[in-house]
Amino acid sequence: MEFDDREVSPELMEDIEEVSDELKLRPATLDEYIGQGAILSNLRVFIQAAKNREEALDHVLFAGPPGLGKTTLAHVIAREMGVSLKSTSGPVIERGGDLAAIVSNLEEGDVLFIDEIHRLNRAVQEILYPAMEDYEIDIVLGQGPAARALKFNLPQFTLVGATTREGLLSAPFRGRFGYVAVLDFYSPEELAAIVRRSATVLGVELDDDAALMLASRSRGTPRIANRLLRRVRDFAEVEGDGRVTVIGVDAALRRLDVDARGLDKMDRRILGTLVERFNGGPVGIDALAAAISEERSTLEDVYEPYLLQQGFLVRTRQGRIATRLAYTHLGRPLPSGQAGLF
Ligand SMILES: Nc1ncnc2c1ncn2[C@@H]1O[C@H](COP(=O)(O)OP(=O)(O)OP(=O)(O)O)[C@@H](O)[C@H]1O
Ligand SMILES: [Mg+2]
Repeated sequence: MEFDDREVSPELMEDIEEVSDELKLRPATLDEYIGQGAILSNLRVFIQAAKNREEALDHVLFAGPPGLGKTTLAHVIAREMGVSLKSTSGPVIERGGDLAAIVSNLEEGDVLFIDEIHRLNRAVQEILYPAMEDYEIDIVLGQGPAARALKFNLPQFTLVGATTREGLLSAPFRGRFGYVAVLDFYSPEELAAIVRRSATVLGVELDDDAALMLASRSRGTPRIANRLLRRVRDFAEVEGDGRVTVIGVDAALRRLDVDARGLDKMDRRILGTLVERFNGGPVGIDALAAAISEERSTLEDVYEPYLLQQGFLVRTRQGRIATRLAYTHLGRPLPSGQAGLF
């Protein structure tokens, strides 16, 4: 098998191993969930308050890069509220009738999880507004003069939305969520705790310093940490005695082209292109995306957030600029005469 440059992509891969492991490794309760401390302590309060009042939890929006735990938190909420979760996603709901069919199946207190909620079209959003505010839905039956508007009452439910593009939600839509939580990248210590837990679940023997090394090279993302753990385990089982040590992690990650900062080939290609082709920038996102033959949205949603957070890139009004850190990480001389280099 060849490891391509997607090995550390935070996006969910559709292979069976990854999907079934995601279910196994997913923390089910607030107590099992590691990291995102501020969001978790808020959720604890809101969940307790809703339970005390015997009401549905107010609508929640989770925003942030892929693989940080948005879907997991939606399931945790349903579990803690003791209700069931019905799951759908923005692009799947094409017409008002699709949404009506889904919400009419909800029971009192249920969680309706809509993934990629920024991809809901305008018409469906408009139908969702009264559903969110008053638990009512207006359906138009028929067309032309014979059209009739019908109003249905819905059970109280909790809409949990997830998005990688919070900026694409309209202000009125965003405003209808009682709590908007923006997930941040995890610290190496938090990720180390996550991979230690995953190793226990998967029955992998993992040294503490190996866990920390794996964690610090996982782009701050639990999904990547878990994926790297599985790959490193493969090397340990086939070429070693099965135990995952720090030497084993270092060797395996080298073979997977993950560098000391956790950047993969694609990250380095983005930085390299910026530095070489565009003289370090500033360059517009479209030009950069074209130069690396990637979709602009993939660059913006998947790769850029971590590079920005780690200070390899800065975003200015004129475009993206490579920082000193990018030059030194790539082992390139700093450009001369650029006094304003970040
Ligand atoms: N806090 C955490 N503790 C332990 N494991 C976690 C945590 N957050 C996420 N994970 C793991 O990472 C995996 C990915 O999380 P999840 O599917 O919730 O991400 P997501 O934000 O919904 O990603 P996407 O935007 O791609 O849908 C989960 O299966 C789970 O194993
Ligand atoms: Mg998800």
